[in-house]
Amino acid sequence: MSHGTPLSGARVLITGGTRGIGRLMAAGAIERGAEVTVWARDAEVGAQASAELDVRFLAVDVTNPAEVTAAAAETGAVDVLVNNAGVIAGRPFVDLTEDDIRRTYEVNVLAPYRVTRAFLPGMLARDRGCVVNLASAAGLIGTTRMTDYSGTKHAMVGFTEALRAELRAERSAVRTLTVCPFYIDTGMFDGVQTRFPWLLPILQQQDVATKTLDAIERGSAKLVMPWSVSLLPLARVLPVPVFDAMVDFLGVNHTMDHFTGHQG
Ligand SMILES: NC(=O)c1ccc[n+]([C@@H]2O[C@H](COP(=O)([O-])OP(=O)(O)OC[C@H]3O[C@@H](n4cnc5c(N)ncnc54)[C@H](OP(=O)(O)O)[C@@H]3O)[C@@H](O)[C@H]2O)c1
Repeated sequence: MSHGTPLSGARVLITGGTRGIGRLMAAGAIERGAEVTVWARDAEVGAQASAELDVRFLAVDVTNPAEVTAAAAETGAVDVLVNNAGVIAGRPFVDLTEDDIRRTYEVNVLAPYRVTRAFLPGMLARDRGCVVNLASAAGLIGTTRMTDYSGTKHAMVGFTEALRAELRAERSAVRTLTVCPFYIDTGMFDGVQTRFPWLLPILQQQDVATKTLDAIERGSAKLVMPWSVSLLPLARVLPVPVFDAMVDFLGVNHTMDHFTGHQG
């Protein structure tokens, strides 16, 4: 039986909370009565978010262990940790450099482990709280130009499930939530296309942010958007060539053909 984490009065930390869905989750959590801290690198964008949303902003590069340690001490106790900061290179595997791959793994995987290690002991001691990991539909399926990103998001799905098992084994009341959305209109995936928008729509960032906050309050362990993506695990029973043919027919391996990502 899952108990949710009410956001009213909760202390919430959102990494990458200055832009995209992180910023919208910060705004929504404030509206629901939370005290919100956001971490990101760009101090100018952070100061603006801080002024507009009434959140506390700390300039932190989550790939820097010393910065995370200092910022964790300054942030103090947290009831809801949202590991949201994420990046993608978005090029074919042969065009990726060692630095591209390292950066994606540093931000998308090693940083969430690091930040969770900083805040989970406090949640365990208080026996409440929630660790929210922004994975992706790319954590459930590997597609073209995603070899770096999809690897990291599969890691986040595995990390969160294993952590959930440990918390359950310890009879802890601390919860985890894995979020697996298809593409969202934040700019991170600018240029992507979908062949069947009725089946696989590009998601609206406000909708993803609101549903994630609802899932935290409800105590859900997993949030997959849109509904069609949640059928993926079922399709895995198909023989691999049939599964691959289905994915190709849906156009999924061409969604990234015109990917540009954030401009500027
Ligand atoms: N957009 C999508 O289509 C989509 C789909 C599925 C899952 N997701 C996942 O959802 C999460 C949020 O995506 P989004 O589209 O909202 O991203 P976004 O608009 O690009 O925002 C990313 C945020 O992360 C921060 N960030 C990046 N690198 C950082 C670092 N090293 N240290 C601290 N902060 C850092 C950025 O701020 P600074 O640059 O100032 O540091 C920014 O605030 C990501 O984990 C992403 O993988 C996104």
